[in-house]
Amino acid sequence: MSSAIPVIVPVITIDGPSASGKGTVAQLVAARLGFHYLDSGALYRIVAFATLQKNIAWNNAQGVSECAKTLNIEFVNEQVFLNGQEVSNEIRTEAIGKGASQVAVHPPLRAALIDMQHAFCKAPGLVADGRDMGTVIFPKALLKVFLTATTATRAKRRYQQLLDKGQPANYEHILQDLQERDARDQSRASAPLVMADDAILLETDNLGISAAVDTILRNYQHKICK
Ligand code: DC
Repeated sequence: MSSAIPVIVPVITIDGPSASGKGTVAQLVAARLGFHYLDSGALYRIVAFATLQKNIAWNNAQGVSECAKTLNIEFVNEQVFLNGQEVSNEIRTEAIGKGASQVAVHPPLRAALIDMQHAFCKAPGLVADGRDMGTVIFPKALLKVFLTATTATRAKRRYQQLLDKGQPANYEHILQDLQERDARDQSRASAPLVMADDAILLETDNLGISAAVDTILRNYQHKICK
């Protein structure tokens, strides 16, 4: 009788605050390794977007988590679909980002999204980006990275991103929003944004995207070969 050999799926987690560059870096690392990519923030953004459409208040823990359970969420390449409708741009606004941070404080919502996140863990591997990837969702990840930068650097980046997209931007408002979002994400009782004890710290103030990607790939190589 032959017993099936379990497939071992390597996971790299990249956590950090908003606008730290983790999304871009995580996608590039996933592409270089041919791994799947999980943008966990998109899930919280979709919930904020869907509840706003249904007039469910973001501070209504039960309403928000019940609504999340009914959503059909699909990621196709870089596009995000909610119940068959593309919402990639709609979920990327500053208002929805703020809403995502507000709905994310609710433990029943976080619990409702766990299986969906674990389902991304498929061969040949996964790069998962978010706030609690290395601490809660994939605590046994092979490599954990905490990517960060000062609030001023992140606010400047966000400001430039909005200008590049032709959207209105006010640096002072962006800075204040980031500070509020950091405070909420770091202080919530359930799965707060903290660096895992076994994560490597990458500060990107003076580190370009490709240098960050190379550093992560070097650390990954080190993990699998040594
Ligand atoms: O990474 P992002 O900016 O798209 O995330 C939006 C919000 O979602 C963030 O402010 C907090 C929440 N979030 C979370 O609580 N846990 C995650 N793993 C990812 C995002």
